[in-house]
Amino acid sequence: MTSKSLTSPRPVTPLGILVAKLEHLSQQIEALDSVDANLKSELRQASALASGLDPYLSHCTTPESSALASLVKRTQAEDWSQRFSDSETVQQLEQEMLSGHVEGQTLKFFVHLTQAKRVLEIGMFTGYSALAMAEALPDDGKVVACEVDAYVAKFAQQCFDQSPDGHKILVKVAPALLTLKQLAAANETFDLVFIDADKAGYVDYLNLLLDTGLLSPNGLICVDNTLMQGQPYLSSESTANGVAIASFNQTVVDDPRIEQVLLPLRDGLTLIRRV
Ligand SMILES: C[S@@+](CC[C@H](N)C(=O)[O-])C[C@H]1O[C@@H](n2cnc3c(N)ncnc32)[C@H](O)[C@@H]1O
Repeated sequence: MTSKSLTSPRPVTPLGILVAKLEHLSQQIEALDSVDANLKSELRQASALASGLDPYLSHCTTPESSALASLVKRTQAEDWSQRFSDSETVQQLEQEMLSGHVEGQTLKFFVHLTQAKRVLEIGMFTGYSALAMAEALPDDGKVVACEVDAYVAKFAQQCFDQSPDGHKILVKVAPALLTLKQLAAANETFDLVFIDADKAGYVDYLNLLLDTGLLSPNGLICVDNTLMQGQPYLSSESTANGVAIASFNQTVVDDPRIEQVLLPLRDGLTLIRRV
């Protein structure tokens, strides 16, 4: 393992980016004698309102397990700067990919609520969400986790081996679309699916889940990053991921087979079910 000193993740959610912008603006305005004290105070309040939210959500959420906490530490200690995913789009791997405490606890809740026994994850990285969901499964439950990159798959497996729930996770190292087609051909079904891989692939993953028996009749699909740092609703120029997510979100809106809700959790989490 190549390692580095711990650095804080950069902001990758609409709220995180808003916090950084408000703090920057606030610092600049504070330094100006010409700006009214009330205006400075209002800006400080706006900044505090935004910056306090994520820490408070985390404080009020059940703490993560020691296995998840050590997976986070290991992921943050790794030097990802030279690591590129084995995917077709040659994606830079980075610690910010990890979903983390509040989203992990949310996924655990969905596993409990749906009483899922079989979970499919599309895009695993170092395994945070896979392990969080595995922790909520009964002992004979299964998470099938799709990951294209062999290095992160090995990294995640080492973390799973340290956890009492790691045996519930089966890692499939290949492009997810290929794995999904193989699972569908083998008549496998899943009660809960978490989509969190290449954004350009989201529409294909959704269609495959709905067109085959992969999603059980009352199955729940959770899709990550559907706010993509605010790009789908901003008028400024989008990245390729922003364009892909905007197109995916519209596909979901237009599909009469499903109903959905987009939750403003972290970078956006869309819940989808068949109607
Ligand atoms: C955002 S990360 C997943 C984060 C993880 N779900 C978590 O919560 O910690 C996306 C992962 O998808 C993987 N990926 C990208 N394209 C893929 C593909 N076509 N098939 C399978 N995995 C893919 C990347 O290598 C990366 O590890």
